Amino acid sequence: MAVLMVVFGVSSVVLGACFALLKWNEIRYHSKGLPPGTMGWPIFGETTEFLRHGPDFMKNQRARYGSVFKSHILGCPTIVSMDPELNRYILVNEAKGLVPGYPQSMVDLLGKCNVAALHGSAHKHIRSSLLSLVGPPAIKHDFLPRIDKFMRSFLSNWDAKTIDLQEKTNKIVEGELGSSCKAFKPEFDKLALGTISLPLNIPGTNYYQGLQGRKGIEKILRQFMEERRGSKTHYNDLLDQILRNEKFKYNLSDEEIIDQIITVLYSSYETVSTTSMMAIKYLHDNPTVLQQLREEHSAIRRRKGAEDHIEWEDYKSMSLTRAVIFETSRLASVVNGVMRKTTKNIELNGFFIPKGWKIYVYTREINYDPNLYPKPFAFDPWRWLDKNLENHKHCFIFGGGGRLCPGKELGILQISIFLHYFVTRYRWEEVGKNEIVKFPRVEAPKGFHIQVSKY
Ligand code: HEM
Repeated sequence: MAVLMVVFGVSSVVLGACFALLKWNEIRYHSKGLPPGTMGWPIFGETTEFLRHGPDFMKNQRARYGSVFKSHILGCPTIVSMDPELNRYILVNEAKGLVPGYPQSMVDLLGKCNVAALHGSAHKHIRSSLLSLVGPPAIKHDFLPRIDKFMRSFLSNWDAKTIDLQEKTNKIVEGELGSSCKAFKPEFDKLALGTISLPLNIPGTNYYQGLQGRKGIEKILRQFMEERRGSKTHYNDLLDQILRNEKFKYNLSDEEIIDQIITVLYSSYETVSTTSMMAIKYLHDNPTVLQQLREEHSAIRRRKGAEDHIEWEDYKSMSLTRAVIFETSRLASVVNGVMRKTTKNIELNGFFIPKGWKIYVYTREINYDPNLYPKPFAFDPWRWLDKNLENHKHCFIFGGGGRLCPGKELGILQISIFLHYFVTRYRWEEVGKNEIVKFPRVEAPKGFHIQVSKY
């Protein structure tokens, strides 16, 4: 009996303390006019629920509180918006005090001159320089021949092999590292891992490793810059494009060049590799689409010699390929949403949002809206050919407003050239059951294994 009373007493104290902590956190963030919602535990907020249940957590909160609610995730008080109109408003109204709000670890590792960390005139300057680096003229003259050459050799010896496609597609970014790849890649991998971590600079943490990776990259790039400035040799890579191309009119400091290169590589890294892997998955599961896509690429090959490179006009004729890439990105959302923060007290949809709060512009659900995409869970690339869906005001696959993805065309080109050589050279079967998770990132935790044979 005495033991029972002790257990009861301890349980009551623990429950009471939990309740008090939850209540304290609610009171701490109480402010008149905020949207409804819960703030969870002190410091941790609702991060665990968010990371564990992802889209379901979002849908549950929306069912309870509506499309705009408050929460506390990833260490910050946050407003989540799942309202398409409000999301659009936030994306196009950066000047009203709605600037990027990416985690500190990301800003530290990608650099303070990285375009996604800047706003106002500094953002304008770096973004214009980036667009001149990865916009259509540069894609046509610099990237296309380089990517084509890389993909030919990358996809040259996959016949009669069982491969982990996820591991392979992660290497697509290596095409842009050129001769520097061997030394650069391990440092870059450390950096990429550290971008999504708590900013604890203690040996053993991902953040610490990320900082080491960044230091390594800086050292390599500074050495390359010095060598190249004193030499006449031309290298076919991004750094040469910045240092030597007369058409590149922007006078960037060494620090800006380093951040620019890291940003381009980092932004293409996961987006392009994951979308390439998922496109192969959807094509495998949808043989009719695969057959028509193969026909599109075989027609291009028939017009050319076996060794001829893909040219701009060939790429432009890949309309079903483009549709497959959009449909893949819709169903396997690589970007679930984008982060903003308020630089002043602001009113949104009648709610009062205090200065310094984060806003999670959660765009994932709109990808499954049956009004925009009938039969939303079907893989139907033709829907992208029928209407001008790509430019629909609520299509946020590549973001929107002044931060619309500057690498959109480059990313589509990389995936298209990968698909071209893959489907014209090979057929494939999945090996075993490849589990895919879609949150917080799209990935195959145990790899994505396929048996490849000559087509
Ligand atoms: C399938 C491929 C890709 C997808 C789905 C994608 C998606 C996005 C999205 C949703 C944003 C908006 C972020 C925001 O508003 O804060 C964005 C921005 C950005 N993307 Fe991409 N992206 C892709 C490929 C690329 C590639 C290949 C590059 C390489 C240049 C790139 C570079 C960037 C940069 C630098 C920004 C920030 C722009 C700014 O802040 O002004 N992306 N991307």
